[in-house]
Amino acid sequence: MSRDFFAEFLASLNPAQRDAVTAEIGPALVLAGAGSGKTRVLTGRAFYLIRELNVLPRSVAVMTFTNKAARELRERLGHLLEGSSELPWAGTFHSFCVQLLRQYGNRAGLAANFTIYDEDDSQRVVTELMRERFVAREGLTPRQVRGLFRALRTAVSAMDEALWQKPLKTSMRTISSACAPRMPLTLTICC
Ligand SMILES: Nc1ncnc2c1ncn2[C@@H]1O[C@H](COP(=O)(O)OP(=O)(O)OP(=O)(O)O)[C@@H](O)[C@H]1O
Ligand SMILES: [Mg+2]
Repeated sequence: MSRDFFAEFLASLNPAQRDAVTAEIGPALVLAGAGSGKTRVLTGRAFYLIRELNVLPRSVAVMTFTNKAARELRERLGHLLEGSSELPWAGTFHSFCVQLLRQYGNRAGLAANFTIYDEDDSQRVVTELMRERFVAREGLTPRQVRGLFRALRTAVSAMDEALWQKPLKTSMRTISSACAPRMPLTLTICC
């Protein structure tokens, strides 16, 4: 990798992109709109960290939302870091989190071969459990129950206990305890 290539790359960025790419190591929030060069900055940042600051590629992870964007990230990183024996990890937030859970989940009592339920799977299991436990007669639909799981997952610590009415609480407790042994991840990932 010649210095020229790096200088050429920096020169191809506009000032705001250059600032983002060469920002000090540490958290940096960059807000940018569609087509404004986000991928260029992200890949450039990885390039800068590895080639200029000698960060090991394996210590760099680049994440995005969709599989399509992840493919583009990998392609562009491969191009920028052509000739490197190692490239940084690049993929979606979901795949990154799944890898973490498969690798280290055992520390939280999670088997490495866990299954992730999609929308339909989790709806089916909640429906079955509600039928099994006669929760349906309390007037909740499976959709509402899944919505409550979602609320629990994201906001339980912020929730005022007093907001929970008794029948709702009982249903949630019944379903949660029934779900736990059968699909322990449902509460955390799938609902
Ligand atoms: N400073 C620049 N000079 C010239 N071309 C640029 C510059 N920044 C970005 N581009 C070009 O603009 C296009 C969009 O860039 P990029 O894909 O990085 O943007 P993005 O914000 O990730 O786009 P999207 O929102 O579609 O994901 C690309 O063709 C890229 O090469
Ligand atoms: Mg992009």
